[in-house]
Amino acid sequence: MMYSVEEQAKYFEWSGAFLQKMVSPEEIEQLRDVIRFFEWKYYVRHESLISDQQYDLLFSKLRELEKHHPELITEDSPTQRVSSDLTNTFNTVSHLGPMLSLDNSYDEQDLISFDNQIKKLTGMDGDIEYAVEPKFDGGSITLVYEQNIMTRSATRGDGAVGEEITSNVKTGIPSIPLKAALSDYGIFRAELRGEVIISKDNFEKLNAKREEEGEMLFANPRNAATGALRMKDPNEVKQRRLEAFIYQIGIAENKQGESVANNIGTQYGSIEILQKLGFKTPEKEARLCKNIAEVVEYCREMEAGREQYPYEIDGMVVKLNDFKLQELCGYTQHHPRWAIAYKFKAKKALTQLLEIQYQVGKIGTITPVAKVKPVQLAGVTVSSISLHNEEFIISKDIRIGDTIEIERAGDVIPHVVGSVNDLRRGHETPFVFPEFCPVNDTEVPVKLIRESDEAAWRCPHCVCGAQNLQKIIFHVSKPAMDIDGFGKSYVEQFYKMGWIRDIGDVYDLDFDQIAQLEGFGTKSANNLKSAIELAKNKPIHRLLHSLSIHHLGKKASKLIAERIRNIWELKTWTLENYTEIKDIGPVVGQNMVDFFSQESNLVLLQKLEQNGVNFDQMEEDQPPVIAADAPLAGKTILFTGTMTRLNRREAQLMAEKAGAKNISAVSSNLNILVVGENAGSKLVKAQKLGTVEVLTEEAFLSLISS
Ligand code: IVH
Repeated sequence: MMYSVEEQAKYFEWSGAFLQKMVSPEEIEQLRDVIRFFEWKYYVRHESLISDQQYDLLFSKLRELEKHHPELITEDSPTQRVSSDLTNTFNTVSHLGPMLSLDNSYDEQDLISFDNQIKKLTGMDGDIEYAVEPKFDGGSITLVYEQNIMTRSATRGDGAVGEEITSNVKTGIPSIPLKAALSDYGIFRAELRGEVIISKDNFEKLNAKREEEGEMLFANPRNAATGALRMKDPNEVKQRRLEAFIYQIGIAENKQGESVANNIGTQYGSIEILQKLGFKTPEKEARLCKNIAEVVEYCREMEAGREQYPYEIDGMVVKLNDFKLQELCGYTQHHPRWAIAYKFKAKKALTQLLEIQYQVGKIGTITPVAKVKPVQLAGVTVSSISLHNEEFIISKDIRIGDTIEIERAGDVIPHVVGSVNDLRRGHETPFVFPEFCPVNDTEVPVKLIRESDEAAWRCPHCVCGAQNLQKIIFHVSKPAMDIDGFGKSYVEQFYKMGWIRDIGDVYDLDFDQIAQLEGFGTKSANNLKSAIELAKNKPIHRLLHSLSIHHLGKKASKLIAERIRNIWELKTWTLENYTEIKDIGPVVGQNMVDFFSQESNLVLLQKLEQNGVNFDQMEEDQPPVIAADAPLAGKTILFTGTMTRLNRREAQLMAEKAGAKNISAVSSNLNILVVGENAGSKLVKAQKLGTVEVLTEEAFLSLISS
């Protein structure tokens, strides 16, 4: 562990003192140590000893001090995590040592052969010690430390050359220390290796959020993690909650450039050292095994428990523990001879694509679905898988009749990796997306449309009711009207019976009839009735969201609901009324205007209202009431330039909470302009006006915390 109990107590005590007093330049490094300690505690140990506000206050103090004494800023100061430039360009850099891959093994026999090979290469017999670690399924990175300071980070790339991602790592992965006392081990320059990964938990949250916002879902945590590393905005990277397990000291040199690997001695020792230096390591899972039999047993144990493990792992890595023995084994072009990956049973499988069927979504999106020959995949039988959209199928050249590879990562939905071209026999048919709605079974064919910036084909005017069914399913669902107990299967059942044809019918059901249905009874019919009664009195932002208007998400629904007293007001709203609202774009705006100008939609709304659904703004629809003595009550505010401490959205939300209204242009209506770095024309304009109060980001922070 990096901090002794005494040190932890000391930093905690100091934090209290720092929170209360002015800090002198002499104390700047102490303050940094205090902040580093709390960052380690939070990001490596997942424990918070102080509140976010207290942490923010310490951080603001450090910033303030560094602002007045720029000569005292150090490269490893916690403030240097906060990126100043908004966009990254990814330069390529050569790794100090080649980033080799690993040889693979799949069963006990492979591991025993590996052990025999090691014995041959080292001339040893008897038991050989191995360090065994999880094989994390993320994106691999290198970290270069020079004189204890993290100077560079890169992706693996082709093994020789990778892409430089230093600012994303500094800002986006707080568990990576900017400073580590490698010199304690005689190391002047080090290249460390590790894996960047998203926990299964955070991955699910990320995808749930993306689903709500209508974005494409990530197929697995690895894609989400590796994608994040290459994002342009380091602050966005941070939102992905990446973690990095550092498992290897690749290069360790003294000032003369000579290897000091012998100061470390073993792989297991490396993990202990990295842990002491403050890195997040596989400390708990890394195990020192006395011989290959213990290795086999441990690999099996981890494989059996992989679903419970909080991170995606696709195997174990078995490393010869002793560095001197490693040296005797050497390397091939591809991998070290002293290590091997033990791969867990495939979560991948091959199967045959029998046909492509289509599903229609609530806004008419046509999703192609692969019907495959049923196959076992990590414990479940898979017979149909989404093919997402036309682009997905074309880019992978997936043909009907193909042998395709499918994969399932963790608890995530299976996805198609691609076709196995070598197994084609010539009878496979290339795929052509249908021109007319494939779900529609009425006589009049409906031509599909595809908007230029969208991947999906849509059936614009549903005549067969398939979309309506999806709209009803969405309307009653949790994110929309949240009608408790009204699941998809009930909607489908009632739809089939002809009891509900549109969302208006949801509020006019005959519960006596429902009680007669098989598997229902009076009690569940009554429960459903009360849940629907409850839904009639929900805030109008839910109703807006539940109408399945293309691109209209929860947030935009709230923003609109805040501004109207009754749903019918929207009948007269123009595009400008919508786009005047910050965060509502012209696309949603136009969709809203279109919706409210279509007669059939107005009839539907009337039906909802007649059936008792609330159309009036409720307290929950209104923005939170701001106390008259809130620090920014009644003020208008605008942020410009690059914020360093907060991202723009956070800053705006904080301002709103403090009573201010965010506006988007400098005019005589503006009260406060908060300037980040590189503020441009807005600052000039505000200064010219002379009526605008100009604040730095720090001044803004201290103002709202007052
Ligand atoms: S050691 C010279 N240890 O697996 C040895 N690799 O297939 C270098 N990986 O590119 C690798 N967990 O991204 C090592 N505990 C672990 C690992 C690990 C995941 C990845 C790494 C590497 C790939 C090789």
